[in-house]
Amino acid sequence: MHGKPKKHILVCVQRRPQDHPRGCGCADRGGAAVYQAFLDEFAKLELWDKGFLLTDTGCMGPCDQGPTVVVWPEGVMYLGVKPEDARVIVDEHLMFDQPVERLLAPKEIWG
Ligand code: FES
Repeated sequence: MHGKPKKHILVCVQRRPQDHPRGCGCADRGGAAVYQAFLDEFAKLELWDKGFLLTDTGCMGPCDQGPTVVVWPEGVMYLGVKPEDARVIVDEHLMFDQPVERLLAPKEIWG
């Protein structure tokens, strides 16, 4: 892919020690499996060649409700994402610009 992406998907895979004051990170809540599920979708649908970008990343804030996924440029945050949700986010949000309502972060968190 060259140039700015159409959409950039960030998936939190932050790992922290169990006794960390902010609790365990998204890695312990399944973030790596979510990232892998997005990788599988990207490979299957050749999304890199179609202008999409996927990055595994560190903490984006609401750790206790992760795994956290953010889609830019619109800045939509999803919480509690499961691996099977990756396909839904790709099918509905990336392909048709329809954010997946049931996974959206509340405005108090990401308003
Ligand atoms: S550790 Fe994933 S949002 Fe904080």
